[in-house]
Amino acid sequence: MNYSESNGGLALFTKEFAKNPYPAYEKLRETDPVYPITLPDGQRGWMITTYEAAMEALKDQRMIKDFSKLFGDQMGHRSVFTENMLFSDPPDHKRLRGLVQKAFTPKMIAGMRGRIQEITDELLEKAAERPQMNLIDDFAFPLPIIVICEMLGVPSADRDKFRIWSNSLIEGSNGENAERIYEHMNEFTGYLGSWFAKTQENPGDDLISQLIQAEEKGDQLTERELYGVVSLLIIAGHETTVNLIGNGMLSLLQHPDQFEKLQSHPELIQSAIEELLRFEGPVEFSTSRWAGEDFEFKGQAMKRGDIVIVALNSANHDPLQFENPDLLDITREKSPHLAFGTGIHHCLGAPLARMEGEIAISSLMRRFPAMKLSIDPAELEWRPGMIVRGVKEIPVSLYPS
Ligand code: HEM
Repeated sequence: MNYSESNGGLALFTKEFAKNPYPAYEKLRETDPVYPITLPDGQRGWMITTYEAAMEALKDQRMIKDFSKLFGDQMGHRSVFTENMLFSDPPDHKRLRGLVQKAFTPKMIAGMRGRIQEITDELLEKAAERPQMNLIDDFAFPLPIIVICEMLGVPSADRDKFRIWSNSLIEGSNGENAERIYEHMNEFTGYLGSWFAKTQENPGDDLISQLIQAEEKGDQLTERELYGVVSLLIIAGHETTVNLIGNGMLSLLQHPDQFEKLQSHPELIQSAIEELLRFEGPVEFSTSRWAGEDFEFKGQAMKRGDIVIVALNSANHDPLQFENPDLLDITREKSPHLAFGTGIHHCLGAPLARMEGEIAISSLMRRFPAMKLSIDPAELEWRPGMIVRGVKEIPVSLYPS
């Protein structure tokens, strides 16, 4: 099926759309804020593009996350990797999030600050040896995966395996290379199973030990739920933060006035991170929700089983919510952006992501103050995935003459 035609000629989910979705969003916000779409797999659904409708949809519990309630467990819909809070509805969601929050605490996150700075410095030290660097592969990609592996307590000798499994989890969530992914996932659950057993006998102070021990009124995470939570933390803690650093640096490099402002006022880093999250957010679409029943939403008749996608980057460019939304302004005050979602599924890792983003971007700018893009921005290749927004490579010159 040619879904670009069936989406009213808006060419949603194509390479061109990935390159610059904002003109399509502008049109949809004005004319069809809750727009009927056909997904690449032929599924019927809705795309939500205004800030107001996005806020409502993300909080509307008639739009459910646990799709096994609608489709049963056919085609492995409810696999072990989706047994976590992101794919659950109340009351299961509250239970799962509560147990994970007991382990993934603000104190544990704050305790990572020094280590994140060290890992950043090591990566930049290595990059500094050459005149060119690919901001994604050499820096933005390894940093968050090393951080989440260290938090979980993955031995450094096994980190490369985690990198491979984490890539497979992500490809799997995009429906790619089913056979190889299945093999990797078996290896991954086998590894986790024996690791959980060892940790149970001899717990440490890492996140896995804390997750295994987390308890609320006698209730604990089951082994399947532990697989689900660990996979979620790896994917969520990795794919998104890469693109906060990547998209953030790209936006700054393309707006030299803002780059210079941040360089001369490093104390603006926190508001800069919020603006970079708003301006070119790492998560293009919320994870899918499904209409759990037939109902009307903003004048549109949603049918049980319809998929609902909230275009977070469109909401974050809605002129009814943000003045001059297409202007990058790192001093913007009051920015209630939706880059981390809202409602019960609001990002659990937001404090960690913000801290990694602040350290990464400040350190890059301090270490390479003259950094310049060494590619024509029109040639950047945007990744086509359905959820994250980011480019494949960002080549930069570190010491341009
Ligand atoms: C949920 C964005 C980093 C863990 C979410 C959601 C968004 C999001 C939009 C809600 C999805 C929805 O409602 O459909 C981001 C962005 C990040 C980031 C933009 C980086 C810049 C992280 C990190 C972690 C993390 C570092 C943990 C290591 C989670 C978890 C959820 C979640 C566990 C599910 C919460 C729930 O369902 O209750 N994230 N995230 N995220 N995120 Fe993040």
